[in-house]
Amino acid sequence: MKILKSAEILTEEVVNLKSQGKSIGFVPTMGALHKGHLSLIDYASRDNDIVVVSIFVNPTQFNDKGDYDRYPRILEKDIEKLKKVKCDFVFSPEENEMYPEEDNREFDFGKLDKVMEGEHRPGHFRGVALIVSKLFEIVKPHKAYFGEKDFQQVAVIKHITKQLGFNIEIVSCPIIRENDGLAMSSRNMLLSKYQRANVSLISKTLFEAREMPKKMTVSETKDWVIRTINENPYMDVEYFEIVDGSNLEPINDWGQDEEKVGCIAVHVGNIRLIDNIRFYF
Ligand code: PAF
Repeated sequence: MKILKSAEILTEEVVNLKSQGKSIGFVPTMGALHKGHLSLIDYASRDNDIVVVSIFVNPTQFNDKGDYDRYPRILEKDIEKLKKVKCDFVFSPEENEMYPEEDNREFDFGKLDKVMEGEHRPGHFRGVALIVSKLFEIVKPHKAYFGEKDFQQVAVIKHITKQLGFNIEIVSCPIIRENDGLAMSSRNMLLSKYQRANVSLISKTLFEAREMPKKMTVSETKDWVIRTINENPYMDVEYFEIVDGSNLEPINDWGQDEEKVGCIAVHVGNIRLIDNIRFYF
């Protein structure tokens, strides 16, 4: 496993490997790796000859400075984990390698950033698009792997990949959960013992909400989810929205055919967690 900080050297390595006919799978991360990340690496290693993992806490996607400062940074531990799996290159650049100068690009996300994370974290998806497009230029992968916990992020990345003309397949991979249902997230390690004991209520409520189309309207289901979670003193729901999975537009009735996804963001003290659930009929 090679650990690189230079974008130029990484590009040279992958271009050379591609010229030998090797396929490149890419897993971009912000580090503090958990089993969710390791499952993305596992998918990448099954589909590709070479796996590249990036670790970079991207400042431009944080709309809250406190969240950026608190974000866990444990590179040595991450590298130990990566040594035990199929990872050929770790790219862990310094900030000036990714942003040598200000990047003023703007992106057109259509309606995708008008709701949920886009609405509540202004500038977040622009920051994601800035860094992911830079990483795609450097790594030039055939396939890139993203977790469905960030359901809206996957939709946004698919959109910009097409819009910017990258010939990269975006592979979205299922959420990996702790035994009590909590969606795995790097931010989970910031939770106190008491917060951690309470946050499984988020996924428990989402799982129960899946039964609601039989007995409640969309609006009643949204109210029920928000009320149920907010009754817990550790938690404060920022939003719970039920959207059409194909275009992220909020739905007003259950309808029939399209995939529906309930997406939630919850503040637990100063930690912000997200999760989502697909509704089946
Ligand atoms: O999902 C993440 O960890 C980040 O948003 C990503 C895709 C690595 C970009 O910084």
